[in-house]
Amino acid sequence: MLKDYIDYSGLACLSLPQEVGHDISDVVANHIMDLYSSNQPEDLGLGFISPREKQLHLALGPDFELEIDQSPSLLASSSSNSNSNPRNPSNSTTGFVCWKTSPLLVQWLLYSEICPFKTLFFLRPEKAKLKSVKSRQNRKATNTKFIDVSLDQPRITIVELGSGVSGILGSTIGTLPSTLHFIATDHQQSILKLLRSNIQQNVTGRYTSTTMETKVIPEKARSAPGSGVSAIDVVEYDWEDDSVDPVHEIKDTLLQGQFPDLIMACDTIYNEYLIPFFTDSLLRLMGGTTVAILALQLRDSDMVEAFVNCLVEKGGEAGVEVYYVKDEFLSDELKRGFVVYYLERKEVDQDAL
Ligand SMILES: C[S@@+](CC[C@H](N)C(=O)[O-])C[C@H]1O[C@@H](n2cnc3c(N)ncnc32)[C@H](O)[C@@H]1O
Repeated sequence: MLKDYIDYSGLACLSLPQEVGHDISDVVANHIMDLYSSNQPEDLGLGFISPREKQLHLALGPDFELEIDQSPSLLASSSSNSNSNPRNPSNSTTGFVCWKTSPLLVQWLLYSEICPFKTLFFLRPEKAKLKSVKSRQNRKATNTKFIDVSLDQPRITIVELGSGVSGILGSTIGTLPSTLHFIATDHQQSILKLLRSNIQQNVTGRYTSTTMETKVIPEKARSAPGSGVSAIDVVEYDWEDDSVDPVHEIKDTLLQGQFPDLIMACDTIYNEYLIPFFTDSLLRLMGGTTVAILALQLRDSDMVEAFVNCLVEKGGEAGVEVYYVKDEFLSDELKRGFVVYYLERKEVDQDAL
């Protein structure tokens, strides 16, 4: 279970048991007050990395150099969306550019010694052997070090909500030997198209997919024990669309009937309208052992408070507990204007049954 790899000393729980007599909204209000006084947001603007450039070059830690295509013009154009929802004030174009939260999250998750989730992705590294691979198209001379998966290492399935076009999580965490399957999702075909293309141009080849063209990997190499080859997929998952069973494609088609081990989302809360849709979509995908990591940029405090209240309330009804990462366990960059939440299903007290 992923829970066994989490350092709970870095987390504080917001979902207190009812019998303690606390009003949950007071607990959340105090958390938000502490958050905005300790974690003073710098002037982060709206939160794009660049609202003008069509191409970004991002170096994430020693292992990942990404070239990301984005579309500032589609960000600015509300009419670009044939399926935009007039009730959604975001006009659904936010996904056309890359936002600041996900690069910071990746660097913290993969390279920070204080991150409470650091062993999730490089599980049991002492058993793993180091392996060198060449970076994309041999264009860069650097050799990249990955920890190769050991024969008995559990590998995890991950679903990302609201990935946007950048594919940063898919192109980094999606390629780790500890990842069995990474599924990036969003809600518009034009976003999904650019997302696929960014992942294809940034992943060096060792992956399989049923939703993207990949280099053919010989079956023998792919299924060899410890090969570390992951699957990466990009599919539609619209939080507002209740006309179809949105979980079906992800769980039943791509994950062989299993819920994902981990759900991730970066900067998916930026207006109040989306809060209940996002929360329901997240909880719907959480099976008994699924955990979730959500990273947010601190914008309007009322909106963040409304989101956390919704998460704690709806989560409580679904048996899911909400934690936040304590300030001292965040990277210096995340401490300046970001927050990370962690969700898991409550342990059932067997004695009480
Ligand atoms: C602020 S952007 C963040 C994108 C990306 N996670 C990043 O950090 O660059 C919010 C994302 O939520 C997605 N989104 C908005 N409404 C959605 C919906 N109803 N269903 C699924 N995704 C949605 C947008 O398309 C966009 O990709």
